[in-house]
Amino acid sequence: DWNSGNVIAEQVEKIRAQVGSGRVICGLSGGVDSAVAAALVHKAVGDQLVCVFVDHGLLRKGEREQVENDYVASTGVRLVTVDARQQFLDALAGVSDPEQKRKIIGREFIRVFEAAEADLVAEAAADGEPIRFLVQGTLYPDVVESGGGSGTANIKSHHNVGGLPEDLQFELVEPLRTLFKDEVRAIGRELGLPEVIVARQPFPGPGLGIRIVGEVTADRLEILRDADAIVRAELTKAGLDAEIWQCPVVLLADVRSVGVQGDGRTYGHPIVLRPVSSEDAMTADWTRLPYDVLARISNRITNEVREVNRVVLDVTSKPPGTIEWE
Ligand code: XMP
Repeated sequence: DWNSGNVIAEQVEKIRAQVGSGRVICGLSGGVDSAVAAALVHKAVGDQLVCVFVDHGLLRKGEREQVENDYVASTGVRLVTVDARQQFLDALAGVSDPEQKRKIIGREFIRVFEAAEADLVAEAAADGEPIRFLVQGTLYPDVVESGGGSGTANIKSHHNVGGLPEDLQFELVEPLRTLFKDEVRAIGRELGLPEVIVARQPFPGPGLGIRIVGEVTADRLEILRDADAIVRAELTKAGLDAEIWQCPVVLLADVRSVGVQGDGRTYGHPIVLRPVSSEDAMTADWTRLPYDVLARISNRITNEVREVNRVVLDVTSKPPGTIEWE
C-alpha cells in the first residue's frame, strides 16, 4: 500500500545511513527528478548537500528563476548557479548540424559542471569534510532500461546532458531508484515543491539548442523563448496540460517566408508547434488541439514576437517523426 509519506520517511533513513556526516553534491536540471531527489537528500542531511544549477542559456523563459527562487524557497537547499550562457553561445557559434550541437552542449555541460564541482570539492576539503557523494535522480524505468542496475553511472548518458564521466570520484546516492514518475511527482508534492517543477513536462537536456533549426544565436533564442512562453501559457489556460505529453516549439531559423504585418511586407521565420500525446515517448501521436486554441496561439505569436510571421502545426506521429526536430 503505497504512500508518499512512508516512502519519504524510508528514503530519508536510507540516505542518512549511506551518507553519514559526508558532504553531498547534486546537479539540478530544472526537471522533476533531480529536484525531488535533491529535496529528499536535503530533508535527510540538510546543508551537507549543495546543489549546482548550470544556466546554459538554452532554458525556457522563467526556468532559472523557478529553480533559484521557488525551489530554493520551498526546500531551503543551498544552491550555486553557474551562468555559462556566453560559453555555450561561443561553443555553438556557426554550428547547424543537430548531432554536433548535441555533442557540443553535452561536452560544455560536463566542463562547466566539473569546474563548479571542483571549486566546491576544494572548498569542502579545506573545511575538513570532503564531498564524497553525488545525487542522481535515476528512476526505476531507467534502472530497468540499463539492464538491471550494474554500472548505473552511465544510464542514458546519450540522453541526459551531463552524462557521468567514467572515472567518477563520488559514490552515487539514488533515492528514486525504486520509483515511477507518478510516484516521484507525488513525493515532490508531499515535500512541498512548486507545482511548476513537479508537474513539468519532459524537456530535453540540450534545451532550446535543439529546437532552433540552424545556428543557435542569442537573438534566435530570445525569439524562441518568447514564442514558447506564449504556447505554454495558452495551453495551460485552456486546461490542456494533462492531455499533452509535451509540446516542443521549434524555430525554423534557416527558413524565411513572405508575410504582411502592420502595413508592410515582412520576411520572417516560421514557428512550428509540435504537440504530442504519448505514454512513454517511444511512440507518440500528434495531439488534436482545438482550433480556437491554435488560433489564439497563432495570433499571439505573430503579434507579439518580432521576426515570426507564420505559425505551422506538425501533424506527424512518431514514428516516423521523432518528438524533437533535432
Ligand atoms: P525524440 O525526439 O527522440 O524524444 O522522439 C523522445 C523524448 O526524449 C526527449 N529528449 C531528450 N531528453 N536529453 C533529454 O533529457 C536529450 O538529449 C533528449 N532528446 C530528446 C524529448 O523531449 C522527448 O520527450
